[in-house]
Amino acid sequence: MSLNKSGREQWGSKLGFILAAAGSAIGLGNIWRYPYLAGENGGAAFIFVYVLCVFAIGIPVLIAEILIGRTTQKNPVGAFKALSSSRYWPVIGGMGVFAGFIILSFYSVVAGWSLGYVVEAVKGNFYLYTAPDSAGQHFNDLIGNIGWSVGYLSLFMILTMLVVYFGVQKGIERGSKIMMPMLFGLIIIVTIQGLSLEGSSAGLSYLFNPDFSKINGKVVLAALGQAFFSLSLGMGAMLTYGSYLKKKDNIPSSAVWVAVLDTSIAIIAGIAIFTVVFATNQSPDVGPSLIFRTLPAVLTQIPGGYIFSILFFIALVLAALTSTVSLLEVVTAYFVDEKKWKRKKAVLIFGFVCLLLGIPSALSFNVFANSKIFGLNFFGLTEFIASNLLLPIGGFFIAIFVGWVWNKAIVRAGVIEGAEDSFGKYPWLLITWEIVLKYIAPILIFIVLLSSIGII
Ligand code: PFF
Repeated sequence: MSLNKSGREQWGSKLGFILAAAGSAIGLGNIWRYPYLAGENGGAAFIFVYVLCVFAIGIPVLIAEILIGRTTQKNPVGAFKALSSSRYWPVIGGMGVFAGFIILSFYSVVAGWSLGYVVEAVKGNFYLYTAPDSAGQHFNDLIGNIGWSVGYLSLFMILTMLVVYFGVQKGIERGSKIMMPMLFGLIIIVTIQGLSLEGSSAGLSYLFNPDFSKINGKVVLAALGQAFFSLSLGMGAMLTYGSYLKKKDNIPSSAVWVAVLDTSIAIIAGIAIFTVVFATNQSPDVGPSLIFRTLPAVLTQIPGGYIFSILFFIALVLAALTSTVSLLEVVTAYFVDEKKWKRKKAVLIFGFVCLLLGIPSALSFNVFANSKIFGLNFFGLTEFIASNLLLPIGGFFIAIFVGWVWNKAIVRAGVIEGAEDSFGKYPWLLITWEIVLKYIAPILIFIVLLSSIGII
């Protein structure tokens, strides 16, 4: 990464940006959250709507978000301040910073579980619990232990702080180049093993043979929320990463790459998990514990399973890390740019505050297991507020801003810059993008939001 004229860091190459943005997008959302939501929402029908949401709404909003970042070279709040004289638009950026903060708190709890599973793998404990039922019981015992869950949460948060502390290039760009290909390779191996199990075809049919009668409001809501969550969209993470792009970098092609990589990993992870779920006669809708029940069983069956188990959970932790780094980066960039804080001070203070906010989420599975607000424990509540409310609201306003508020000529010139061979050459691409941002995305998101708060 090099410095631009005003001394702000920039990605070393377009590939550096794609890998870092894919690093933010690919994480527990793909490997932990997507399978458990697919399992709770009927499998193939959910996946169908999810993929539709990624391509029809996700990619256009992703392009819009990166464009705001690249044009302004600023954090989410500063970006809206630079583009609009209204006092209200920066509030959308501020909401994104807040959303990043909340997501980081509950996300780090699951990342902490994954880190704890690296140690379980090293101890060889997966060989003691090879049946998903006993693996599930073991998992419940572990997350029920306060020391275990809060301890690994803290350790993971420290790891995130270390990466962000050392700056954008050294930390994020270099790390992503190693972590992403490694994760990809490991998931493919696990998938091949899953496919080789007797009875795995029932899993494939669950994933790819949609029963369209299962699509209802709840399924669409879960799928849209997951599309935003998985693409790190609607809260300024991609805007912040876009702010480190050079003017000549191609935004639409980067966005498509990120979405295709992200979606492929989710689909492949789904195959790895549901082939095992069906081959071992498990129920697909057990919720957030799904991967921790199923993966140990398949990992131990691979030749060299001991090593694979360790590598797999290390890769999962690293994938989570490239996502949490982008979450903490949003908060840090805001305080560095807007409040003129030293980068290191911002990282230390907000990493620590976020850790404190994560503790009640970790305790939701033990001490606070019976404390429910609106029927959800603290963990579930923060997950709901961030994914079902804040991200879609952020995406809605980003689409409205770029579609309606921002000067049209500037938007067009901006998105074409660096993309002369696609958006520049084929006007229908540009016009379709504009129509999605102006009408389709805001209307659909609005409907989904209303249904998420139970109005329709
Ligand atoms: N996209 C990440 C995942 O799928 O694991 C989660 C995430 C990261 C969401 C960064 C939002 C964000 F800003």
